[in-house]
Amino acid sequence: MQHRLSENTDKLSYQDFARSILEGETLESKLLAAPVHWEGWSPYEIPRHPGRKGRLAFSEKQIKFPKAHHLSGRENKAIALHSFANHELLAIEMMATALLIYPHETEDDVRFKKGILTALRDEQKHLSLYVGRLRELDFDFGDFPLNDYFWRQMEKLTTPAAYTAVMALTFEAANLDFAQYYARIFRESGDLQTAEILDTVLADEVAHVAFGAHWMKKWKQDADLWTYYQSILPWPLTPARSRGIDFDVDLHRRAVGDDSFVKSLVAFEDPFKVTKRTR
Ligand SMILES: [Fe+2]
Ligand SMILES: [Fe+2]
Repeated sequence: MQHRLSENTDKLSYQDFARSILEGETLESKLLAAPVHWEGWSPYEIPRHPGRKGRLAFSEKQIKFPKAHHLSGRENKAIALHSFANHELLAIEMMATALLIYPHETEDDVRFKKGILTALRDEQKHLSLYVGRLRELDFDFGDFPLNDYFWRQMEKLTTPAAYTAVMALTFEAANLDFAQYYARIFRESGDLQTAEILDTVLADEVAHVAFGAHWMKKWKQDADLWTYYQSILPWPLTPARSRGIDFDVDLHRRAVGDDSFVKSLVAFEDPFKVTKRTR
């Protein structure tokens, strides 16, 4: 893609930056690092799939995530790292999409996107860390099948509030628990390098959840955050997806900054599971 440089600066327009990442087909294009400027907006239609070719292409094949007590083996470790890396890449592509499709009129619109860009750059850092660790183990990104589960939610995220409800308050919130859990598992198995990467991811994830919560509190008007969140979360996602393994109530409270929201999350029962249990 031709990059248009702004007249007086050497910065890339945020739209060109986001499109290069979303439509680019290689790992290098997904890791593009460039200063951006925030001028302009033009309509953008979400592609069916992000650009991905060769080893990065999505696969229908399923790969089983290894059990925690099997994560000390080199290949199982690689499968886990590969899955984490794929989640980072999907987050990068969804954040790039968010920069392109959401309103770009008010100062708040742009401020919101600047927050997304900060998170996107964090996700690029996480992806690089996971891929680096994979390579240390003599594997590479693309060695195992890549699924598009998170991406399939993107077409439902038609508003910034839907985006923050799903990305920050659900997927990234669950990662507060998962990152902590797997950091502990890897630390216990003696793999400190992987544990430290997960520590880094966890610290950034707290900020990403807080970012989403901050904006949802602004948009909710008189509603309470829990009611607002539930009213926006697109089917079939439920708040149960916001809790990971070993749900850390205090950390969620710190990240979301709303005690009654987290209290409701603790009490929430997934209707699907309830249905299953009574059958
Ligand atoms: Fe991340
Ligand atoms: Fe994140």
